[in-house]
Amino acid sequence: MTSRSTNNKILPAGEIAGGAAGRKVFVRTYGCQMNVYDSGRMAEVLAPQGYSQTETLEDADLVILNTCHIREKAAEKVYSELGRLRKIKDERARAGKPTLIGVAGCVAQAEGEEISRRAPVVDLVFGPQSYHRLPDLLVRAAGGAKVVETEFDIDEKFEHLAEQSKRMPLARAASAFLTVQEGCDKFCTFCVVPYTRGAEVSRPLGQILQEAEGLAAAGVREITLLGQNVNAWHGEGPDGRPWGLGRLLRRLAEVDGLDRLRYTTSHPRDMDDELIAAHRDMPELMPYLHLPVQSGSDRILAAMNRKHGRDDYFRLVDRIREASPGLALSGDFIVGFPGETDADFADTMDLVRRVGYASCFSFKYSQRPGTPGAAMADQLPEAVKSTRLAELQTLLSDQQRAFNASRLGITCDVLLEKKGRQAGQLTGKSPWLQAVQVDAPDALIGTIQPVEIVDIGANSLFGRLAGGQYGSISPVDGSRQEAAF
Ligand code: 5AD
Ligand code: SF4
Repeated sequence: MTSRSTNNKILPAGEIAGGAAGRKVFVRTYGCQMNVYDSGRMAEVLAPQGYSQTETLEDADLVILNTCHIREKAAEKVYSELGRLRKIKDERARAGKPTLIGVAGCVAQAEGEEISRRAPVVDLVFGPQSYHRLPDLLVRAAGGAKVVETEFDIDEKFEHLAEQSKRMPLARAASAFLTVQEGCDKFCTFCVVPYTRGAEVSRPLGQILQEAEGLAAAGVREITLLGQNVNAWHGEGPDGRPWGLGRLLRRLAEVDGLDRLRYTTSHPRDMDDELIAAHRDMPELMPYLHLPVQSGSDRILAAMNRKHGRDDYFRLVDRIREASPGLALSGDFIVGFPGETDADFADTMDLVRRVGYASCFSFKYSQRPGTPGAAMADQLPEAVKSTRLAELQTLLSDQQRAFNASRLGITCDVLLEKKGRQAGQLTGKSPWLQAVQVDAPDALIGTIQPVEIVDIGANSLFGRLAGGQYGSISPVDGSRQEAAF
């Protein structure tokens, strides 16, 4: 699916559509963290072109919807948003202000020209591997062309990202994403990712280190490595030897200023010994792991082409917990996959009870065109899916509440990221990825502080600074004080 394009010229500032200085772009992000990362990079590509970001749709000369195709609902949301945008575009046109509308991401990749046919308000459609060509695409769109750019050239995108990270740093928050791999070769039968994001490609080590060093120099304390199948990352070390994600994490921990590392999303089959050992040995690697299993039924796991059984998953979880006893597990579940019986669903509920999750995402199966699952017999009625989802979500919410409650009274390190909802409050993150509201002065934004958890809310924990020595940075050790769970 890879093709080379020669059409990748990056224009100097001001050379766009008659000069874009002072123009505004509104980027709306749907879906996964990879899209959040891509949206950030799009804004960076557009900044030298004279575009600043706005949060107000009506002010935007350029609107980009960075879309998700993983479930039907996600794609439908995009079309209803385009209906709303048509009105705004018309109103702005009456006031003599032209507006360009772009659809990016996985819906763009999957549906291509169909989008501008269904929603003529759209001026440009570009897939996840093409956003670095935005300046050129905008020139063509401003000239009146309907632009569709859905070629796959992931290497070119990675090269561009490397160039971009040399020009950084832009102002950054204390926590940042860093894409290390894209795409997937697993072909789970329900999933569009291998079609929309293409085959698995890892970013070279040198590029990743360069970007991580740039982020750390810009004040980033925590990096989350991203990839659809992040633990499939593989590269070549400086010694010429093959490196996996575990080795990469160890190397990243050496980068000055980087105190916390995370990665998502992992496939159970790619959790190798080195990665598990990293959870045992590295205080910088946060004790939290998103490890989707999707179903607890061997029959459904086989039909999903997950290539492992439920016992394999139990054994894996045991090994991970042995290496890192306080680690919080998270996962994804799909209910109502074609052919799922009551007994299969009971196996999923049983797996959840046996594993015990800190937080999870769960979904009704959604038929995605072009995937093998969509063509399977025994598609389940919506009502069955809804009932099962409600039952599963009740169990998962109970587990999440129990996990959060188990933090009450402990002291843990919190990365204070930004101002909180109330004056005098900051919002931060616990080692286990929980939001924590802490009474603390703004001067502590971007630092890691020991915090005593004094209350548990519905969506976040509440804490107060422990130790009282403002400004000092505690040693980072997420796993030392966790309560048993
Ligand atoms: N239907 C429902 N959920 C899906 N996911 C992926 N494809 C589908 C689908 N067709 C879920 C999986 C995956 C998460 C990102 O989205 O649980 O892990
Ligand atoms: Fe999709 Fe993940 Fe399966 Fe790859 S491993 S096909 S991204 S669900």
